[in-house]
Amino acid sequence: MSLNTLRKSTIRLTSLRNQFLPISQRPFAFTPRRTMSVPTTMKAVVVEQTGGPEVLQYKTEYPVPTPKDGQLLVRNNISGINFIDTYFRTGLYASPKPEILGREGAGVVAAVGPNTTGFAVGDRVAWLSNGGYAEYTAVPAGKTVKIPEGISDEDLMASFLSGLTVLSFAKETYAVQKGDWVLLHAAAGGAGFLMTQILKSIGAHVIGTAGGEEKCALVKSLGADVVIDYRSEEGKDWVKKVKEVTGGRGVDVVYDSVGKDTWEGSLEAVKRKGTVVWFGNASGPVPPIPLPKLSPKCVKIARPTLFGYIETREEFEYYTNELFRLLKSGELKVKIHKIYPMEDIKQVHQDLEGRKTMGKPLIKP
Ligand SMILES: NC(=O)c1ccc[n+]([C@@H]2O[C@H](COP(=O)([O-])OP(=O)(O)OC[C@H]3O[C@@H](n4cnc5c(N)ncnc54)[C@H](OP(=O)(O)O)[C@@H]3O)[C@@H](O)[C@H]2O)c1
Repeated sequence: MSLNTLRKSTIRLTSLRNQFLPISQRPFAFTPRRTMSVPTTMKAVVVEQTGGPEVLQYKTEYPVPTPKDGQLLVRNNISGINFIDTYFRTGLYASPKPEILGREGAGVVAAVGPNTTGFAVGDRVAWLSNGGYAEYTAVPAGKTVKIPEGISDEDLMASFLSGLTVLSFAKETYAVQKGDWVLLHAAAGGAGFLMTQILKSIGAHVIGTAGGEEKCALVKSLGADVVIDYRSEEGKDWVKKVKEVTGGRGVDVVYDSVGKDTWEGSLEAVKRKGTVVWFGNASGPVPPIPLPKLSPKCVKIARPTLFGYIETREEFEYYTNELFRLLKSGELKVKIHKIYPMEDIKQVHQDLEGRKTMGKPLIKP
């Protein structure tokens, strides 16, 4: 018998014997699939130059990316829309063009790139990166997590980037304590809706601002102690109201993502030795602040970004696990403003910038 024939019959015998072993004891006889059937083109929204919502171009035959070293190709089931997407669209934040916007998505792993471990084709995952306004996105495995049973893709997208943001900002930017007075602007928004709940769960007193009766009612329903409609005639002098509520002292911390329209009031509303956290530019950026402005009350200021708190895998998993726990236990409720079809992307940006959304807008690629 030739050596080759002997090798073949040994392999046949071994696989026959393996069939009688319990599944758990059978040797790993195949390598996991590294790709599923993936088309060459996809639907995507592409921005070729900066501008208003009109620069968002819906394309139906855009090339599907190939995952590189350390990447996964994810077939997105649902993607989150965040205010930051508008900054990249307008050019407030610089980024190379042409660009597919969208910082987060949830779906299924369609292919595993070279030198990428820990994930297999078919895994249900959520990711933070770039390129969510598309059917497929090549994303770093390091910023991807498997979605646990019991959490839907939609609920996770309503709370993923926004939830990790508020969890890390309430713990690390300023460690909110029970009994603290907190002023939170845009409290009915994607991030604000979650932040109100997190602050209340810590035991803080929350003063939430929001524009309009419906938004204010939503914030109140989350347990905010005081809600101010800062767009109404009565609520325009929200600094005065904050001072009244806190007995003239001011709040321990302000979380201000509105920026240009509120930054001065936020500095006035904070207490002596308090902290102002600026973390967004919904109305435009905060101008450079002369440092002497901080002296009279010894105010601390911060300008955090989520990605600075989840740089390592350990940090990323710490906050994602905490978010999963809160969602599974029902301690954190989510609010989806609306799930838009991806072709309606211009409308989504108009609604977000037009202050028409409550909670989180999502798109279905
Ligand atoms: N630094 C970070 O890492 C980080 C991460 C996540 C989010 N953010 C920031 O957090 C903020 C909230 O993000 P989001 O995605 O959840 O958005 P969002 O809060 O759902 O939408 C922004 C809200 O800002 C308020 N707003 C006030 N003035 C506005 C104006 N002139 N134009 C438009 N909106 C105005 C509106 O609420 P009212 O109608 O109630 O005023 C609007 O609904 C954004 O500033 C975003 O950049 C920062």
